[in-house]
Amino acid sequence: MDLGISGRTALVCGASKGLGFGCALALVEEGVNLVVVARSADPLADAASRLAAIGAEAAARRGAAAPFVKHVAADITTPEGRKAALALHADFDIVVTNAGGPPPGDFRDWDREAWIKAVDANMLTPIELIKATVDGMAARGFGRIVNITSSAVKAPIDILGLSNGARSGLTGFVAGLSRSALAGKGVTINNLLPGAFDTDRLKGTFAASAQKTGQPIDALVAKRRQAIPAQRFGTAEEFGATCAFLCSMHAAYINGQNVLIDGGAYPGTY
Ligand SMILES: NC(=O)c1ccc[n+]([C@@H]2O[C@H](COP(=O)([O-])OP(=O)(O)OC[C@H]3O[C@@H](n4cnc5c(N)ncnc54)[C@H](OP(=O)(O)O)[C@@H]3O)[C@@H](O)[C@H]2O)c1
Repeated sequence: MDLGISGRTALVCGASKGLGFGCALALVEEGVNLVVVARSADPLADAASRLAAIGAEAAARRGAAAPFVKHVAADITTPEGRKAALALHADFDIVVTNAGGPPPGDFRDWDREAWIKAVDANMLTPIELIKATVDGMAARGFGRIVNITSSAVKAPIDILGLSNGARSGLTGFVAGLSRSALAGKGVTINNLLPGAFDTDRLKGTFAASAQKTGQPIDALVAKRRQAIPAQRFGTAEEFGATCAFLCSMHAAYINGQNVLIDGGAYPGTY
């Protein structure tokens, strides 16, 4: 299926590995130009050159020009980081918001500073990126915002209280904004909710649980996998494919949704 977004330009945050990289990969394969962001310069430069090569190969197969891939090593949760990312391109058509999730732990140990950091990274940063880009998208008649949030928004995870809380704030904000006048101007805003995906973040969560419970990591991994009807963790590639579809012309009527990708793990009917 041609997603109809070749030649568009996307900002993809947290894109040197994991789910952000999966989204960047699926978009560049569709001919979308990229600006990719992460904090560590070397892994990001490596990811950007892999993305450029894959984009060029896919474009050659279609007989089209290769999409560009720019990268900037920046902390997207800071005003300076966002300024650096937004400076690399004037008119983004697609923005994928993403940053590392807050650390796991016990709410008794979190002070105001820990909460402000979580809210800054997982609520206010996406809102700032949306604020900087949606009016231009609306003026041009096309825009796609995809926020990578978490299945924890629908089914909270006990040790991820900072994530449960901060991301719910973003979800509430997006529910309202996505249904504003922007919707009539070709701009959609959706949240993509990962369940368990095989990335470094998931490995870190297991390590923290093992430390807290004293159980071996292998046992925790096996238990979690068995609790997922699909009997496996998701891959960054399949996550990216869903993101690219939400950014496509075919998804113009999907707006304000919380799209869960979790192998059937969420136990509710709705
Ligand atoms: N994997 C899962 O099972 C799962 C489940 C639910 C929710 N999530 C959420 O989905 C998001 C992505 O997770 P993931 O599994 O892809 O994590 P990951 O594999 O650890 O990758 C995170 C990516 O984001 C970048 N990053 C982190 N903080 C950043 C910042 N402040 N500014 C710019 N880039 C930043 C990282 O690079 P640098 O470190 O170099 O910056 C890396 O490229 C996280 O918010 C996570 O909590 C993941």
